[in-house]
Amino acid sequence: MKVLGIETSCDETGVAIYDSEAGLLADCLYSQVEIHAKYGGVIPELASRDHIRKTLPLIEEVIEKAGIDASEIEGVAYTAGPGLVGALLVGAAIGRTLGMAWDVPTIGVHHMEGHLLAPMLEPEPPEFPFVALLVSGGHTQLVKVGGIGQYELLGESLDDAAGEAFDKVGKMLGLPYPGGPHVAKLAQKGDPTRFDFPRPMINRPGLDFSFSGLKTYVRNTITSLRDEAGELAEQDAADIARAFEEAVVNTLSIKCRRALEETGYKKLIIAGGVSANLRLREVLEEAMAKVDGRLFYAQLKYCTDNGAMIAYAGCQRLLAGERDDLEIRAQPRWSLESLAAI
Ligand code: KG4
Ligand code: ZN
Repeated sequence: MKVLGIETSCDETGVAIYDSEAGLLADCLYSQVEIHAKYGGVIPELASRDHIRKTLPLIEEVIEKAGIDASEIEGVAYTAGPGLVGALLVGAAIGRTLGMAWDVPTIGVHHMEGHLLAPMLEPEPPEFPFVALLVSGGHTQLVKVGGIGQYELLGESLDDAAGEAFDKVGKMLGLPYPGGPHVAKLAQKGDPTRFDFPRPMINRPGLDFSFSGLKTYVRNTITSLRDEAGELAEQDAADIARAFEEAVVNTLSIKCRRALEETGYKKLIIAGGVSANLRLREVLEEAMAKVDGRLFYAQLKYCTDNGAMIAYAGCQRLLAGERDDLEIRAQPRWSLESLAAI
């Protein structure tokens, strides 16, 4: 079954065609980073307007890239939530309309299920069950995964998501938006022994996270190191970035280990934008090797938002017989646990 996937939940327009027989045929991505960079964050209305401009031309491009005719597409999947409602509505309206025009089934996909299943696109995908650490700009969640749609939330962030914390620290350090990859790059030049930032909530039982205290700690450290002109030395900024990254990675790693102990599972998958963080991958690889377990993640371009993960997740649900009615669905808030098992 060939499925067109459409992702427009935030600031990337992503489209892809996934074939259940042949795998991923093609994917195209248009990032709005430049549009939002000058504001230091995503402006929802600008995001929606740009999705309107980009989605259809990108769909034409991906069909051509896949070397197929539009008439060969057998299903359409679009991100129905969670995300920015205006941005979601663009992909949802286009996806649902194409489904009707082409007379093929359509399905609204949960964005975080898309992320969670992205490692399935790799040559050696994980087998169920496993623990998933979802770390994006909007979510930090530990999920016990029994199969597609069998999701039990083990813990989540009580305040900022991990990616959001990276972005806010990037802003404090004067780095471009989105801060995550820039903080990670700067951290490589930092001295890991200079600061020891707090690891939030590791001494409390349970699997929830909190990153807002760490963020305040970073802000106070920056303030204390500014010179009279208010400038922060480059090495100080790099050392702060490194200490922050270590604190986040270490916290995530401790909670992952706890989740694996609690479930008795040996497989951990990481997904979402922050799973692109190389230090996180390195630390978790080491942790998994120690417990004779295995770590799985998607290739870098499928960690952040993309159409391939939506095409894949939608294809699995369409193959299981799920179909949407004619309603155009956009759910800014949508619990992962409410999804149906297939
Ligand atoms: O999954 P995603 O593309 O969008 C959401 O669903 O939110 O995740 C974006 C987040 C941003 O906060 C971004 O700064 C972060 O992922 N990110 C990173 C890295 N690459 C992207 N954070 C840390 N290190 C990275 N290398
Ligand atoms: Zn995402």
